[in-house]
Amino acid sequence: MASSCGMRLSRMLASEWIHGSKCLLRQATPSSSVRMLSSDSFSTPQPNNQETERTRSVTSFYYQTAIDTAATKTSVRLTPTTMLYSGRSSDGSHVLRSAQYLHKELPVRIAHRIAGLRGLPFIVGCNPTMLAIHELYIRAFHVLTEFPPITDFDIEARYCQMLRQLLEDHSDVVTMLAEGFKETKKHIKDPHMVQTFLDRMLTSRLALRMLTEHHLALHENKPNYIGIICVNFSPKTLIEKKVELAAHMCEVKYGHAPEVRINGHLNASFPYIPQPLDYIMHEVLKNAMRATIEAHSDSLNHLPPIVVTIANNDVDFVIRISDRGGGIRHDLLNRVWQYGFTGPQQHTQVEETNRGIFSEIMENRSAGALYGYGFGLPACRAYVEYLGGQMRLETMQGIGTDVYLRFRHIDGKLESFRI
Ligand SMILES: Nc1ncnc2c1ncn2[C@@H]1O[C@H](COP(=O)(O)OP(=O)(O)OP(=O)(O)O)[C@@H](O)[C@H]1O
Ligand SMILES: [Mg+2]
Repeated sequence: MASSCGMRLSRMLASEWIHGSKCLLRQATPSSSVRMLSSDSFSTPQPNNQETERTRSVTSFYYQTAIDTAATKTSVRLTPTTMLYSGRSSDGSHVLRSAQYLHKELPVRIAHRIAGLRGLPFIVGCNPTMLAIHELYIRAFHVLTEFPPITDFDIEARYCQMLRQLLEDHSDVVTMLAEGFKETKKHIKDPHMVQTFLDRMLTSRLALRMLTEHHLALHENKPNYIGIICVNFSPKTLIEKKVELAAHMCEVKYGHAPEVRINGHLNASFPYIPQPLDYIMHEVLKNAMRATIEAHSDSLNHLPPIVVTIANNDVDFVIRISDRGGGIRHDLLNRVWQYGFTGPQQHTQVEETNRGIFSEIMENRSAGALYGYGFGLPACRAYVEYLGGQMRLETMQGIGTDVYLRFRHIDGKLESFRI
């Protein structure tokens, strides 16, 4: 582990090496960093300036106690019920209150993540992709703390603009983390460290995004929504949308996709936050589709369907995804929950569709990767548990796999999770 001051200096020098700058120590004063990272310069940096700014941000960070101080504060976590009931007022004062809460809260949470990044082993922290993530968080911290107090709607509108930009800038962080850890995998001695770091990093990022998007959505007045909370959320509708996307990805990759049947409580609807479920269902469906295709590569026109069952009750709701994709081998069963583990193709004769460069462009642009990072299952479990639920996997080797997702209701009748 490397979080000592000595390591800081080494990391600084490593960053100098990575960025090829010769005068970083001289540049790195708090005032220069503050100027470079003000909200005005944040939105439209020129490529050259941005490069300089990045170089400065990482090193100047080590001279600043603001992040250290913020990292010692505890975050104030809200229940969805609080968000639901504080999300209405006729004069719009709830929007100002929400922005004021974020103004205080976001820097604290970002500082916690920076502290997490600084606690990584030196060799991991020096990886260029990991450094780029580190820089993104430092920039976010500065931009957020530099922003003036939110006292009226004009300032609040500017704050929203900045939040949108930050969401956009951080949109690739999960892929970057996956790449960073893939690149440094061989140096990691303690897989438990990676698991703990990534569970925290991903769930905290999820929470940051939910809070930010909730605030932005308060402006939208979308029917049936209060912020990001859908008051009559239908699991069936969300599953149908995710099936369509995963099937599209599967077709781009293999030329075929299994049918998905949905049964159980099809008419269930209740208040919930669709956003994390959207991600989780996508990952689980992709896995089920890939397994089905690979286990039935000799009969692609007669693929066994995937069955999704919804069960809703007063306390929680459960979604089971059952596939006939051959199950998971005994010796791989524990490893599938490790970040970075991606199983081998089950049948080598599976042919990926070869439609040349166009298919590749299509895949990257519209569908993303069907598998390959080994992030799907562990990230989903971290999210489900963060939401106070459980994710379980039952597999019948040689037949198929059932994934059970259990989520607590957020209607305030029982204790719920905090964001
Ligand atoms: N339903 C399933 N049936 C059979 N094997 C599965 C199933 N779900 C997951 N696996 C195995 O577990 C491995 C890890 O899954 P995970 O979703 O975490 O990563 P991945 O799919 O390889 O990559 P990605 O990060 O793109 O999701 C898979 O590579 C696969 O071997
Ligand atoms: Mg996956």
